[in-house]
Amino acid sequence: MVMRRFWRGLQAALAPLALFGAAAHADPIAERIGDRVVRFWPDAAAQASALPSVALQAPMPALGPAPEGFPVTPVFTNEGGGHVVRITTSRGTSLYGAGEIGGRLEHSGRTIVCWNTDAYAYNGQSPSLYQSHPWVLAVRADGSSFGVLADTPNRLVMNLSHGIEFRAQGPPFAVIVIERSTPQAVVQALADLTGHMPLPPRWAIGFQQCRYSYAPSTEVERIAREFRSRDLPCDVLWMDIDYMDQHRSFTFDPVGFANPKGLADTLHSRGFRSVWILDPHIRQEPGYEPYDQGTKYDYWVKMPDGSPYVGKVWPGMCVFPDFTRRDVRAWWGSMTAEFVQRSGADGIWNDMNEPAVFDVTSKTMELTARHEADADLGGPGFHTRYHNIYGMQMARATFDGLHGARPNRRPFVLSRANHLGGQRFAAAWTGDNRSNDEHLLMALPMVLNLGLSAQPFAGPDIGGYAEACTGDQFAKWFGMGALFPFSRAHAEKGNIRKEPWSFGPRIEALCRRALQTRYRLLPYLYTVFEEASRTGLPVARPAFFADPKTEWVRSNEHEFLLGGDLLARVDLEDVPDPAQRNLSDDARSWPEASIVDGPKERAIPALHVRAGAIVPLGPVMAYSDERPLDEIELLVALDAHGHAEGVLYEDAGDGYGYQKGEFSRTHFTATREGDTASLRATHEGTWAPPAGRHYRVTLLGGAKLKVAGP
Ligand code: GLC
Repeated sequence: MVMRRFWRGLQAALAPLALFGAAAHADPIAERIGDRVVRFWPDAAAQASALPSVALQAPMPALGPAPEGFPVTPVFTNEGGGHVVRITTSRGTSLYGAGEIGGRLEHSGRTIVCWNTDAYAYNGQSPSLYQSHPWVLAVRADGSSFGVLADTPNRLVMNLSHGIEFRAQGPPFAVIVIERSTPQAVVQALADLTGHMPLPPRWAIGFQQCRYSYAPSTEVERIAREFRSRDLPCDVLWMDIDYMDQHRSFTFDPVGFANPKGLADTLHSRGFRSVWILDPHIRQEPGYEPYDQGTKYDYWVKMPDGSPYVGKVWPGMCVFPDFTRRDVRAWWGSMTAEFVQRSGADGIWNDMNEPAVFDVTSKTMELTARHEADADLGGPGFHTRYHNIYGMQMARATFDGLHGARPNRRPFVLSRANHLGGQRFAAAWTGDNRSNDEHLLMALPMVLNLGLSAQPFAGPDIGGYAEACTGDQFAKWFGMGALFPFSRAHAEKGNIRKEPWSFGPRIEALCRRALQTRYRLLPYLYTVFEEASRTGLPVARPAFFADPKTEWVRSNEHEFLLGGDLLARVDLEDVPDPAQRNLSDDARSWPEASIVDGPKERAIPALHVRAGAIVPLGPVMAYSDERPLDEIELLVALDAHGHAEGVLYEDAGDGYGYQKGEFSRTHFTATREGDTASLRATHEGTWAPPAGRHYRVTLLGGAKLKVAGP
């Protein structure tokens, strides 16, 4: 013990000496680029030679020098040929963000490597997953907060053991620091810098069912019939790679999917949308149209000798489009546009875009491969610079292609690989997870940290992609997963069946209740999505957003907030008294709402309405637009002063009319006066809610009051 203390003391004393071996930069250059947003450079040479940012939505010109007394100052050094940036944190600071990474909610003590990786069956210690978010959110003991963005797409090691340390090879890079009085405000400022999630079509926030693969098309139709006949709400069925002819993107299996458009039409007639997968790799095969075209126009990523980089993936030996080029993205976009006409697809799933390559230890393409990137991304360069944004640029091409094909519909894209800023183009799922307890517990922290990294539209493979699970575990996945922003069940080829009915009637009933809960919540969820797209706040928010000052709430990963007004309490672990864990004091007083009738079940998270809030609910529907929202229930949780407020946002559910005022935002206010509560509503926007809508008001918390108005 004494020895250990001695060694620690010695290490601490020697720590500053380490800088002598390294080239420490005297004073970094600090320039103000926004309100309490400062960009730091190691020196003038680095600033002058900097490549464009790939994370920022638009270039940020300097507005002047950093404000006096700005509380965060990074220290830049060169060590071992790499660039190192250190930021000290005060005692009691908690660290989050870093986008898609497993493990716990709080990252303090972790080392995370930003390097997009095909991380099949990863675990909580895996240092790199499919997406890169070089971003750390810090919450100080007093609840004030700052965020740090390492503005480089290169491989970056984030060591969060002693404060924040970034280490990267390649050119020196800037660090952008956002300082705010709350973590919420930091996350909003990050979205302002890197872009807001566009408002998705309303159907995309419904429940979605996938498997690798539902094939042939008659199997897809059977799954659709099962959902409807069993009264299990569902909006979307997914087509994985077996719809293709020999796993080649932009083709259809001539036998199993001979009439893809007919399938999509049948699904539409039953109220299902369909999302189809498109992988980036193109089989090296003369006569295959995308290969011939891309070869003719010289669209592939190349090796230094000028030959295309070739790697093995699902369809065999493949070449890879160079998505860092505008012309290649336009070509991909036009093929996607044509594909959605031919398939009737409503959305597109981009997978394997780290890019994943089989049978090589790196799991990806050669680092010496060359991208002919446009100047606005940094100009021609090696895969070392462009690896982490390959998937983001593919998603961008897909998003733009969908938008071009259907300018009056909101594109829906899901992408496995992505980068900070990529929320502008695609939603995220957390890749090939496993159906075990570790992953059940990690799913929520992962979704929350993605939300804290500007990606609000995220969720795991519900039920777990790899490995089997028990019915009870499956029900827990559903209960929790039905509350996540992106809510899709998926399972690997060869895995046990993982549809809601696969584990017998008891588990099916729990899944039904979970799904009915989501559909009751859809009016509220859509309101929260619209808020997220406008303000940059996450959809699923950590419990500490309600109480950032209380240290022990900061590691609370059993509760989370959906929007600002609903707290979900998940109960996944076998611990003696769940009520005693991690609960925030404030939330203890929030009344519980019963959204779908039924006895208390561990698999179904308890939902509490914030005291002072009004939450709008809709009726259960088989799919999100089965019929107009003719009935709204308002859950009213009066605060100690007898007051509550809430909002309901609505629009056409797709298209861009809402940007021209064609939306409806209703503000509700409830007030108690004596033994009467009155409810008032004011209205914004030109979109008319269904005529004759019926409102029902439920007062929570045992209050027995008469309701007057609206
Ligand atoms: C990858 C994806 C997985 C998909 C499979 C086949 O492993 O992560 O979701 O099912 O490829 O396309």
